[in-house]
Amino acid sequence: MERFYITTPIYYVNARPHLGHAYTTIVADALARFNKLMAKETFFLTGTDEHGDKIVQAAEKNGMSPQEYVDGISAEFQALWPDLMCENDDYIRTTQDRHVRTVQDILQKVYDSGDIYFGEYGGHYCYGCERFYTEKELEDGKCPDHQTVPEYISEKNYFFKMSKYQDWLKEHIQKNPDFIRPERYRNEVLSLLDSGALEDLCISRPKSRLTWGIELPFDKDYVTYVWFDALINYLTALNYPDGELYKDFWPAANHLVAKDILKPHAIFWPTMLKAAGIEPYQHLNVHGYWLVKDTKMSKSLGNVIEPLKLKDTYGLNAFRYFLLREMSFGQDASFSEEALVGRLNADLANDLGNLFNRTLSMTHKYFEGKVPSPVDEEIEDAEIKQIGREAMKTYQAMFSEFKFSRALEGLWELVRGLNKYIDITAPWTLKKNGEMERLATVIYVLLENMRKIAVHLWPVMPEASENMLQQLGICFDPRKVDLAKEVDVWGLLESDVEIAKTSNLFPRVELPEPEPSNSMESAKEKKSAKAKKNAPKQQEGNGFIEFEDFQKLDLRVGTVTGVEVHPDADRLLLVQVDMGEDEPRQVVAGLADFFAPDDLNGKQVVVVANLKPRKLRKQLSQGMILAVKTEEGMQLLTPMDEVVPGSKVS
Ligand code: MSP
Repeated sequence: MERFYITTPIYYVNARPHLGHAYTTIVADALARFNKLMAKETFFLTGTDEHGDKIVQAAEKNGMSPQEYVDGISAEFQALWPDLMCENDDYIRTTQDRHVRTVQDILQKVYDSGDIYFGEYGGHYCYGCERFYTEKELEDGKCPDHQTVPEYISEKNYFFKMSKYQDWLKEHIQKNPDFIRPERYRNEVLSLLDSGALEDLCISRPKSRLTWGIELPFDKDYVTYVWFDALINYLTALNYPDGELYKDFWPAANHLVAKDILKPHAIFWPTMLKAAGIEPYQHLNVHGYWLVKDTKMSKSLGNVIEPLKLKDTYGLNAFRYFLLREMSFGQDASFSEEALVGRLNADLANDLGNLFNRTLSMTHKYFEGKVPSPVDEEIEDAEIKQIGREAMKTYQAMFSEFKFSRALEGLWELVRGLNKYIDITAPWTLKKNGEMERLATVIYVLLENMRKIAVHLWPVMPEASENMLQQLGICFDPRKVDLAKEVDVWGLLESDVEIAKTSNLFPRVELPEPEPSNSMESAKEKKSAKAKKNAPKQQEGNGFIEFEDFQKLDLRVGTVTGVEVHPDADRLLLVQVDMGEDEPRQVVAGLADFFAPDDLNGKQVVVVANLKPRKLRKQLSQGMILAVKTEEGMQLLTPMDEVVPGSKVS
């Protein structure tokens, strides 16, 4: 069986988790899930990096001992991942005994083989980076990252003969074009290796200066340099050297990091492995930064994005989808709530949500909610099936290459294609003309493709995918899926299975109102608006309106494709109306006292189509449904015979 081992960086515990950490871990989770669906055995590792100066300083600042401090923040990271539906197989902490043992074991091996020596070293030490800088590397005498003047330190330390492996590493990278990917980072590393002699790596810190670290097995007065310690976590978790996991998964090791830690992963780590007699990892996969208004997120700039807040506001599915869709893997991407809302509304609510809502509701209307049996295939069916095959092939190929944005873009060819397929095949006309066999085929083609889409989306939006499949009457078990086969296999959706009435998995959202910049002013505005609202209505003229006034109204007929009760107001219904536009409109209607959602589904209604959209109890309403209130209740205005959705009332 093929295997896949995916790791995230182990995060420093001197800061709380933010969007950047969430991104890497969500990508790792999506990859683990994708590879599971591709019938591979997977192992997904994340954890925390808990030694070094930085941690000691952070603990001191918080008035805690290092151990107390790391326990607290590590637990915070650990607790975050299930909330983001990240299902790691192990969680490693560098303060665990198992890790201390592995680091000491490897240090001893490298020491015994003669690749570690004791020497004097003087250099500019930056506490923020926990490393020495050479004169050449400083910018105006300052650390390029922290913009602080490093301290000149001269002391005796242990060194790893990294320079010895420069030529080997260069050759390995050249011989294995996808050892480091995407290519820009491979080129960056090759040019680093070309730019001069690789220096040996100082791998110890005297205990006189730092005790919070792993003691060197061959000198009790020193602890291990935090990077030499941290990188080894990837082996510890596999029970190196004798564990089954190590034998099975190390040959399939995929590290996932952002560009900030390219050098330790692309240069220190492979040379360390070589010196310890261990095969190099399979791939190093490097992504860019999430920027906020073109700047890197940082605590000091106060622009740190908290992943849980976003998840709570927009839902986990939208959040995960956005992260994978928006960033081109390898390049930087800008984070903004506007962009997230844009994607949610366009890709999820309009394209995907609409497809589900329309199709489920038509299946109920035309086939009593049961999957119909398809009959003969026509040209439109063959065409959409071909679009589907291409979309799935692209999705799988791109996902395997870590090109998530292109993968999703590819899959959306099918989502949009299916919405068009509905317009072209016009199921409502087929029904009207009594072409029930053709109608059955059309609905089946839609439902089977929707099943395929839902399965493919499991790595990205596990929760939504499982819900979509449940709506299609399927109890999803990832172990039974073979994604590669989905491209060509047709007809796994069984006929006669009962499906859900409505979907509404991705309701449209609006950006939260910006905080008013001047609260006095806004209070004044609110007061005057309230006064206006309460004032008695002025009767203008003789009560007649001009014809031009009537012409201002855009009244249209639409077909109700989905109805549910407003989540925050049980007298209101959220009615999805197909108006012949690209997407159905949502109208919030005060009809819940008179109609059950099922009574309205499939009905044609008259809608004031150009009423200014507004929000009613946080839900967007894009029009008004016309109805007549009588003593007995409420009657909807509806055409005598079914008309094409979007027809104008004049
Ligand atoms: N402890 C080291 C890693 C040791 S791995 C053997 C470390 N920790 S860190 O907490 O600083 O995490 C860095 C990683 O967090 C990045 O490589 C990336 O995965 C993620 N990100 C942090 N900020 C990020 C962005 N602004 N954008 C994208 N990812 C970011 O370095």
